[in-house]
Amino acid sequence: MSKRRILIQLDTDPQASVFDAVVAIDAGAERLLQYSNIKPDQVRDLVHGAMYTRGPQDLKNTAVFVGGSNVVHGEQVFRNAIDAMFDPFKVSIMIDCNGSNSTAAAAVISASKHVALEGSTALVLGATGPVGLRVAKILANEKSTVYLSSRSLERSQECVDQLVAQGLPPGRLIAISSGDQTWTDKAIRECQMVFACGAAGIRLMSDDQLRQAKSLQVAVDLNAVPPLGIDGIGLTDKATQREGRFDYGALGVGGLKMKIHKASVASLFESNTKVIDCQEMMTIGRDILAKEAIAS
Ligand SMILES: NC(=O)c1ccc[n+]([C@@H]2O[C@H](COP(=O)([O-])OP(=O)(O)OC[C@H]3O[C@@H](n4cnc5c(N)ncnc54)[C@H](OP(=O)(O)O)[C@@H]3O)[C@@H](O)[C@H]2O)c1
Repeated sequence: MSKRRILIQLDTDPQASVFDAVVAIDAGAERLLQYSNIKPDQVRDLVHGAMYTRGPQDLKNTAVFVGGSNVVHGEQVFRNAIDAMFDPFKVSIMIDCNGSNSTAAAAVISASKHVALEGSTALVLGATGPVGLRVAKILANEKSTVYLSSRSLERSQECVDQLVAQGLPPGRLIAISSGDQTWTDKAIRECQMVFACGAAGIRLMSDDQLRQAKSLQVAVDLNAVPPLGIDGIGLTDKATQREGRFDYGALGVGGLKMKIHKASVASLFESNTKVIDCQEMMTIGRDILAKEAIAS
């Protein structure tokens, strides 16, 4: 008899996310084991509990999901969980703290329908947040040049340093401060894509700045709370054409984000060796689009 598909939810918040639980069930998990308030140093024993209870041939039916609103702690939990595993007892694992990985992947894939990423230039507003940082990381991996904007040059430079430390080429990552008019104007003039990844309810790009962005081909705004992140872009925009651009609002990206989240959970149960982060979600998202294109 085949074993039930169990998803072990390791969440850094006091209450494990209901949203992540519902998506997990919809994606095919049959039982959820939820652990909340997880600290990185607790992970090893929990993961060992998952590894040793079923034989290697059944371990693809056990998987780990790391979530919670503290993305820094979540990443440490994820790393510790991976470090605790070894062959042949591994279980598949994914991380999507606060939806930051699936949202970033969906935003970049949406833009890539209209702009070839390699050799392009992108401006990421609010690049210091979990979503913005991942958008910047994915873009740099795809060989785009990326301006990372923050209110503080120190913070945007820290993000660049962090990405460079992860192996991304320094030449493709440029830290700027939104208060520095010269650099902001330069980034706005040069970019083919802009991603507004600021906090909810914060406008980061004015109508005037949008008009100055003459090379802009795609504008993506992930802020769903008014005032929206880019003046003139609608919440439900999905490849909406305006002034030579394709515009996406938070809900316009949200459909693909949900599909990526669900498909990522489902793929955890295909083998016991999957490690799904924002980069792997790019592959999953592209597969979804390819299948949809064949079906249509
Ligand atoms: N559609 C979805 O499923 C989904 C999922 C997750 C997130 N989101 C949305 O994506 C966006 C980014 O999420 P996140 O969690 O990365 O955001 P976040 O951490 O809350 O904020 C991102 C950045 O916004 C900047 N910011 C904060 N307050 C500001 C202010 N008063 N004025 C100007 N800038 C300010 C900060 O950068 P500096 O301090 O460095 O300037 C911060 O690092 C949010 O709007 C969120 O709601 C959507």
